[in-house]
Amino acid sequence: MNFETFTRRDFLKSSTVAAGGALLGTLSLERSAHAAANNDTLKIALIGCGGRGSGAAAHALTADPNCKLVAMVDAFQDRLDKGLEQIKNKHGDRVAVPEENKFVGFDGYKEAIALADVVILATPPGFRPMHFEEAVRQGKHVFMEKPVAVDAPGVRRVLAAAAEAKKKNLKVGVGLQRHHQPNYNETIKRLQDGAIGNIVAARVYWNGGPVGPKYRRAQVAEIVGRQPTEMEFQMRNWYMFNWLCGDHIVEQHIHNLDVINWIKGSYPVRVQGMGGRAFQQGPDSGEIFDHHAAEYEYADGTRMFSQCRQIPNCENNVSEHVIGTRGHADVNGHKIFGGETAWRYKKEGQSNDGWQLEHYTLFDAIRNDKPYNEAENGAKSTLTAIMGRMATYSGKVIEWEQALNSTLELVPKTLAWDAQPLVLPGADGLYPFAVPGKTVAV
Ligand SMILES: NC(=O)c1ccc[n+]([C@@H]2O[C@H](COP(=O)([O-])OP(=O)(O)OC[C@H]3O[C@@H](n4cnc5c(N)ncnc54)[C@H](O)[C@@H]3O)[C@@H](O)[C@H]2O)c1
Repeated sequence: MNFETFTRRDFLKSSTVAAGGALLGTLSLERSAHAAANNDTLKIALIGCGGRGSGAAAHALTADPNCKLVAMVDAFQDRLDKGLEQIKNKHGDRVAVPEENKFVGFDGYKEAIALADVVILATPPGFRPMHFEEAVRQGKHVFMEKPVAVDAPGVRRVLAAAAEAKKKNLKVGVGLQRHHQPNYNETIKRLQDGAIGNIVAARVYWNGGPVGPKYRRAQVAEIVGRQPTEMEFQMRNWYMFNWLCGDHIVEQHIHNLDVINWIKGSYPVRVQGMGGRAFQQGPDSGEIFDHHAAEYEYADGTRMFSQCRQIPNCENNVSEHVIGTRGHADVNGHKIFGGETAWRYKKEGQSNDGWQLEHYTLFDAIRNDKPYNEAENGAKSTLTAIMGRMATYSGKVIEWEQALNSTLELVPKTLAWDAQPLVLPGADGLYPFAVPGKTVAV
């Protein structure tokens, strides 16, 4: 695994040294970013122009002053237009996307990728394997958001493309941004160096309010001016459908599960859990659960107790904690409690904005040809979350190998506005959802 740390200070240091000039040390981070490398303009294509895609494009443009946005793809015209407006507000002069480089629908991604040196993948995660494979096939550097798949066949495709990317010396960043924050890195380094002895248990949470429904059917009808097709509805309301989102244990809770994988330097061997729908109901709420609780086991017997909930007016908690043989740690609070090794992170001017820092690392790797490929860990932490969903949906114990080799494919083969997704509403308008003990989720 390559969990390269790259802080703002490191960045300034490396760009100053490489440029061989003390003067550069006094320049702003933005202006000195490309000093160590050639001055070729890097062209960026953005695929998925929603909230995170627009944010990631802006972060990329900030990270490297000699790159520009040249192509954009979104399933929907209005989303592309809105994303473009947002990026222009921040980086107007660096956006050069002519009409012919704007692609709307399912298919334009191949042409957009061909126009770019660096590709940002920020659609719902169901499309990630397909887009990542194509970017690697075309030999492009990639920043892709987490999760990187919604099912095991998707994870396997990403793992294969990750290996191919390594062979082609492509640089790949994955949006598990905690890996780029000094506060997490300093805490985790101490834990891995034995600050609290052997880690025997972990607790992780993403308990908060609901993210979806993102759009209700009536809103989609208003946008398209008629009754939407089933595909139009599910694509707009992607958070509520597993082929697009993976359920929130995958879409959101992956961040917390991934932190413990990082600390352990490994992935769980099995998981069991429970979950259901207590709050979500009605035809707009699709098929995802609104709560999951899972107990993971690593090969050395370490347990990770995980909860994620999306229900309003409940206790909220987004955090990671570990318990060791000589103490314990509040990982996201960056505090270690353990006798002589008690410690807490102190900020000394460095940025902890992981969303920005991850792009500095990516562009530094591209400019200075440093090894950088986060795709394998991204895929394995995605599988960690998917196996949790398999366990909570089925009510069964799920082994890592069983999850990895699962042939259950959620994404439909045909992607078109008049094609049918695999999960459809019944006569009452309600979607079927998993019933532990009955559902086969692997
Ligand atoms: N790392 C983080 O902290 C973080 C934060 C937020 C979101 N994310 C991730 O970013 C991704 C996007 O989330 P978001 O919040 O931006 O959602 P969003 O709904 O705001 O944006 C997704 C966009 O992708 C478009 N899209 C859907 N299918 C497409 C396709 N096949 N081709 C092109 N465009 C398509 C949608 O129309 C939409 O505009 C998700 O994977 C999410 O988990 C990560």
